[in-house]
Amino acid sequence: MENQFLGNNNFKVSSQTVSASCPSNIALIKYWGKYENQIPANPSISYTLNNCRTNTEMEFLANEPFSVQTFLAGTEEPKFAEKIEKYFKNIEKYLPWIIQGKYIIRTENTFPHSSGIASSASGFGAIAKCLMELNSKFSNGNQKTVTDNQKASFLARLGSGSACRSLYSGLVVWGETPVVEGSSDLFAVKYPNEEIHPIFKNFNDWVLLIHEGEKSVSSTVGHGLMNTNPYAERRFQEARDNFFVLKDILKTGDLQKFMTLVEHEALTLHAMMMMSEPAFILMKTGTLEVINKIWKFREETGLPLFFTLDAGANVHLLFPSADVNSHAEPLEASVEKIKSFIEKELLQHTQNGGVVKDEMIF
Ligand code: PMV
Repeated sequence: MENQFLGNNNFKVSSQTVSASCPSNIALIKYWGKYENQIPANPSISYTLNNCRTNTEMEFLANEPFSVQTFLAGTEEPKFAEKIEKYFKNIEKYLPWIIQGKYIIRTENTFPHSSGIASSASGFGAIAKCLMELNSKFSNGNQKTVTDNQKASFLARLGSGSACRSLYSGLVVWGETPVVEGSSDLFAVKYPNEEIHPIFKNFNDWVLLIHEGEKSVSSTVGHGLMNTNPYAERRFQEARDNFFVLKDILKTGDLQKFMTLVEHEALTLHAMMMMSEPAFILMKTGTLEVINKIWKFREETGLPLFFTLDAGANVHLLFPSADVNSHAEPLEASVEKIKSFIEKELLQHTQNGGVVKDEMIF
């Protein structure tokens, strides 16, 4: 299967500048634990975001000695360049022209740089898109067995696993599961739109910036610690099983069950961290306070506000968007109540009043 992504030697490089924009994504069933070559230990599914994006411009100077220079929001980042250089060498068999020139990469995130929002997904997604743009300019009439977007997803995965899901909009699956036809460990695929109830299209994701700055443990280290985690196999099996549960929920529009499953997945991710050896905790006091307030709010009002977590302290607040056609008026009033609760009760737990208001658009 991997062979279909290999490049061939029928190419001709020239100096070019290309650009691409790629959104971030937030997983509902989490990927945590992997095998060699970025093969996930279990399938995952995410919502692709709309506003949190990385915009990247890639200048390729043909036939110069191979090197990479990177700028993040105008500031040179030699550490990032080192990482990209290694990544490019690693994917040479898929893009045989890749080390035949010099790169100047200028990249910018639409969300605050220090926010702790994962920029690796949107970052590697944008780079993979730029590479495929160059590839189509350099490969004259190569026979294609895969689409450019599928190969971009395949390449993004080799940079950062979850990045492969950012190449598609809506709900996106990475990792083989019998629940989704055509799903693969090598690239992501779109979850079929016709299998999703309207309530789950047009959803809000407001990211509360509880802690801005670097995480104490990187996700690379976190994934690695699953190799010795005594609960790992049980967790991988649960994620596989949760796909069957979620399929039903998405089809029927059962919001209550959706909330329960998504929160359980988030807490399981963090539970795995606590049961690693050595253990680590990425949640902060504010994370726990927000979770408890959400639960109390739900108990008192019955309104559909719930959360998920990434590998960090920030809380992703999920709630339906008022624009969902089939739920006109009552939902609009509920959404207003949820928004004012967030402003009044939850914002105070952020480090600097920070919230990124994002949404999923299908
Ligand atoms: O793509 P990575 O290696 O940064 O891993 C990300 C893992 C989580 O964000 C915690 C979960 C996920 O599926 O996105």
